[in-house]
Amino acid sequence: MTVETERLRSAVAVELDRARRRTTTLTEAVDDDDLVRQHSRLMSPLVWDLAHVGNQEELWLVRDVGGREPVRRDIDELYDAFQHARADRPALPLLNPAEARAYVATVRDKALDVLDAVRLDGRPLVTGGFAFGMIVQHEQQHDETMLATHQLRTGPPVLHAEPPPPARVPATGEVFIPGGPFTMGTDTEPWALDNERPAHVVDVPAFHLDVAPVTNARYAEFIDAGGYDDARWWSEAGWAHRQRAGLGAPLHWRRDGDRWVYTRFGRTVPVAPDEPVVHVCFHEAQAFAAWAGRRLPTEAEWEKAARFDPATGRSRRYPWGDEDAQERHANLGQRHLSPAPVGAYPDGASPHGVQQLIGDVWEWTSTDFHGYPGFRAFPYREYSEVFFSPEYKVLRGGSFGTDRAACRGTFRNWDYPIRRQIFAGFRCARDAEPGES
Ligand SMILES: [Fe+2]
Repeated sequence: MTVETERLRSAVAVELDRARRRTTTLTEAVDDDDLVRQHSRLMSPLVWDLAHVGNQEELWLVRDVGGREPVRRDIDELYDAFQHARADRPALPLLNPAEARAYVATVRDKALDVLDAVRLDGRPLVTGGFAFGMIVQHEQQHDETMLATHQLRTGPPVLHAEPPPPARVPATGEVFIPGGPFTMGTDTEPWALDNERPAHVVDVPAFHLDVAPVTNARYAEFIDAGGYDDARWWSEAGWAHRQRAGLGAPLHWRRDGDRWVYTRFGRTVPVAPDEPVVHVCFHEAQAFAAWAGRRLPTEAEWEKAARFDPATGRSRRYPWGDEDAQERHANLGQRHLSPAPVGAYPDGASPHGVQQLIGDVWEWTSTDFHGYPGFRAFPYREYSEVFFSPEYKVLRGGSFGTDRAACRGTFRNWDYPIRRQIFAGFRCARDAEPGES
């Protein structure tokens, strides 16, 4: 056994443990009644997420990678996300909180046993620890989903965290990104998911991109200017949705006299003017951009701004380089329970000076979710291929609730253009003028 393999095994064990600690924080913060309750029809009961995390770990690590006997084959169907819509999950005969906790602990013991015993090469599923990385990311993604459920629950605050760091540098205006080809996607990132592959060259015409995500102050100007009442700024589908849903401000915003307040994880506070706006849907982002004389960036523009290094012509893992995300680079991992003010992370800037591409808020792009040229589903079609559709828009960059294990310059998220419960905001772009270079 090589030193390299041993290092990988310990790194995997650390990541599995980090994910489980976060799951535990999110599920121990509330009592059992709260765990089985449905806080929104958009979300599962927290206890479903908990046992589903264990079930996926059992399916992939214990049974497939490890070739071990099933722990609970009888519950597979209950925790198959494709069998039951979120709204229907509370009515299922789910494991109760004590059973769910015992189940995920049993599965974890077996998964760690498999990690000790299995070769991490040969089969593509285990090369570089892929299946373990996939399960780590799956648990962290459900942790972000559970965090979104916490934001939707009512009652006194149960989650606590330090406030995000203050702004350290100005972060206004836009930067110019020259036209030309860059490498999008990856062949080398060991834990990249199938939809991030393969690496391929995309020629992106010159464009301008905002230095930072759109702030609450700027978004409030759009509201004050009557943006929600003017069909000119909205797409046809967006306007129809705005009417039907009665949209008038981001989710969780409320008027309090002449100011806006929002409720976050049970605390109602004045809206912070210099923080990125969050809990807006794609249609709202698109309408704001039209009102501002701008547009949303395409997914390729976003990734070029985040990864392309003009000095070397190479695409890097993150805006700041190839180094894994550290605390000074980005607001990730639920270290804080809100986005940070724009300008808070100068160390995370890209070579062109674009800030906060990673962390804070997921950023809506104008691109539909599809496979890259040469896409191959791996290890199963249900991970992403079945979602390839113009019905979904791509989001990039991760939020304050995204863990670093499930976030990188190539990572792709997708959702319906009407969704607002996710931690999503946006930044604007515009075409370069002819002759501008
Ligand atoms: Fe899942």
